[in-house]
Amino acid sequence: MHYPEYRPRRLRQNENFRRMIRETTLTVNDFIYPLFVTFGKNVKKPIASMPGNFQLSIDHLVKEVKSARDLGIPAVILFGIPETKDEVASGALGDKGIIQQAVKAVKDAVPDILVITDLCLCEYTSHGHCGILDGHVVDNDATLQVLGETAVSQAKAGADMVAPSGMMDGQVLAVREALDESGYEHVPIMAYSAKYASCFYGPFRDAAESTPQFGDRKAYQMDPPNSDEAMREITLDVEEGADIIMVKPALPYLDIIRRAKEEFDLPLAAYNVSGEFAMIKAAANLGWIDETRAMMEALISIKRAGADMILTYFAKDAAKLIV
Ligand code: PBG
Repeated sequence: MHYPEYRPRRLRQNENFRRMIRETTLTVNDFIYPLFVTFGKNVKKPIASMPGNFQLSIDHLVKEVKSARDLGIPAVILFGIPETKDEVASGALGDKGIIQQAVKAVKDAVPDILVITDLCLCEYTSHGHCGILDGHVVDNDATLQVLGETAVSQAKAGADMVAPSGMMDGQVLAVREALDESGYEHVPIMAYSAKYASCFYGPFRDAAESTPQFGDRKAYQMDPPNSDEAMREITLDVEEGADIIMVKPALPYLDIIRRAKEEFDLPLAAYNVSGEFAMIKAAANLGWIDETRAMMEALISIKRAGADMILTYFAKDAAKLIV
């Protein structure tokens, strides 16, 4: 193809031509909407670094999930903020846990939307790390035990899918076995397979009050320069029984999303994380970019890279534009 025979501008000259040759489309089916649930009643506490997002008590959470459902969003993912945290993440499990109660309430009130539970201990530990500590090191295998029990308690509360996000070795296998042993073999696992030790989680940690009290997560989350290692991580999760694989964050890791799409058959999720959201909000707030266009361009880029679904705080705003 050469100029002047081929002139790409011919098919770009108006919106109808552009619509006809558009290669990627975003639909409301693509979105998973993350929500933060906290204890108490009538709480709707704004998260400063994530405008439009709140820590919600269960009563408000139910309303928010209904509005997502009304927009056609197929799924929410819930993060819990317990009343008290301790060394061993006791608040993560048990019927009285914040997430278990939230799942139950949401499934009762809004049965026709999927409820996914984030499965990690960092929201429940006093030290803010994603597992059980042995000194200053996260004890991998001791953590697996607690993750298995937590997964079962979430499934028992009615979770439609669990999403282990702690980057412990063997976590997908441990969760799969625990679920199967308790009769939850029908509950799928969305595995945070290639999750990087990213600064873009900053706003989320304010929201979930889960900033590590010492050190960082680099000893369990992935090193940003690595791509081959991401493929090895995903291979492990696939072999351990993941139903959906995930790359996280999304925008700085579009190359990883593309590779994962090409190398694996499973449905692929990408997490458009809190920092990616906050940057667009902040720049828009200063009048430096057009928020709506930046949001849609970011989301379509994640889809174009190969994601089949996107976890995003923009889910409702984007859904309103699409439907
Ligand atoms: C829990 C978890 C985190 C996020 C999702 N699950 C935080 C972290 O790993 O520190 C981040 C999501 C976001 O930034 O939007 N481990």
